[in-house]
Amino acid sequence: MKHILITGGAGFIGSHVVRLFVNNYSDYHILNLDALTYAGNLENLKDVEGQPNYTFIKGNICDEDLVKELFSTYRIDGVIHLAAESHVDRSITDPLSFVKTNVYGTLNLLEAAKDSWKGNFEEKLFYHISTDEVYGSLGKEGFFIETTAYDPNSPYSASKASSDHFVRAYHNTYGLPIVVSNCSNNYGSHQFPEKLIPLFINNISNNKPLPVYGKGQNVRDWLYVEDHAKAIDIIFHKGITGDTYNIGGFNEWKNIDLIKVLIKVVDRLLGREEGASEKLITYVKDRAGHDFRYAIDASKLKNELGWEPSLQFEEGIEKTVKWYLENKDWVNNVTSGEYQKYYKEMYE
Ligand code: NAD
Ligand code: DAU
Repeated sequence: MKHILITGGAGFIGSHVVRLFVNNYSDYHILNLDALTYAGNLENLKDVEGQPNYTFIKGNICDEDLVKELFSTYRIDGVIHLAAESHVDRSITDPLSFVKTNVYGTLNLLEAAKDSWKGNFEEKLFYHISTDEVYGSLGKEGFFIETTAYDPNSPYSASKASSDHFVRAYHNTYGLPIVVSNCSNNYGSHQFPEKLIPLFINNISNNKPLPVYGKGQNVRDWLYVEDHAKAIDIIFHKGITGDTYNIGGFNEWKNIDLIKVLIKVVDRLLGREEGASEKLITYVKDRAGHDFRYAIDASKLKNELGWEPSLQFEEGIEKTVKWYLENKDWVNNVTSGEYQKYYKEMYE
């Protein structure tokens, strides 16, 4: 049996990755290491909790002793590293937390992998999950490809760029088998409602203002989270060691247009008149250093490993809006912090 350490598995993307690996690979023991910060929620994983091939460990990726101990106790074969501080706005007000987790935490995992594997790298892999934000901002034209020069603008993207560089440095310097993927904006169930899509679905349904940064002209490329999880599965198993893969939805939206789609779908599902909630749109001060446009060219992943998004955006948005409307308790629990009691009940 292989032992696979997934970090940040109680978060948004991590919980989808953990579910996919636990359910699809009974010959893997999946260890989920998560500090359960405000963004980590074990309720996201209720359905896999009792599976024999799953273990949850509450802990910080920056904890040197803990991470070393995990590598020696479980003889970890592979790492899928997702744990991070992930919200750009928070990085503007608290950059140090981003350096601690995203840079130091990644380095701590790399050190433990290097020391534990001791040059015996056969069948081992350290997979770093990263973001397209490391490439900076595009104008109206063009796409990010794997060789686009790094040019991060926010403390969040600078911290992710730094961790990507460390991961590649461990490959080049020590021969550590690594792979990196850089993905565009994810959407879907279980995303903390500070990010655009879940925040706005929640606000529309509660008749609260929709704070659009600047003029709402910024562009993002949206990918359904389960398609990201499938890409991670393929890259983990078939990716070329030392390589980088861009993952994207081939699905660009101007923020204001996407917001109007959300309004339309939420209003319809709540039986309101079409466009009734457009009055909630409120233009606010722009995000500092707001990147204008991200757009991923994911053709390398498509051509070399055969991955492409499986879900049409209209279908993904419909499923996503329905999930948040049908799971109001989840939204209320995470916004009130109530969900943190769940860990205490289950594990203490
Ligand atoms: P998230 O904020 O929803 O979840 C992060 C998880 O990491 C949480 O469970 C949290 O408790 C855990 N965590 C945070 N600090 C930790 C620490 N010091 N030790 C252990 N666990 C810790 O994030 P997400 O949106 O699911 O993103 C996951 C990864 O994917 C991140 O590395 C992010 O940079 C990357 N990514 C996200 C997106 C996106 O659109 N959300 C796109 C591309 C890449
Ligand atoms: O591109 C990948 C990245 O996508 C990930 O690496 C990040 O972890 C993830 O948070 C996301 O970053 P963004 O900053 O693009 O996502 P966010 O949902 O915060 O914002 C999306 C766009 O919407 C962005 O242009 C800012 C705008 N926005 C966001 C919020 C929260 C608003 O106009 N109003 C808002 O209230």
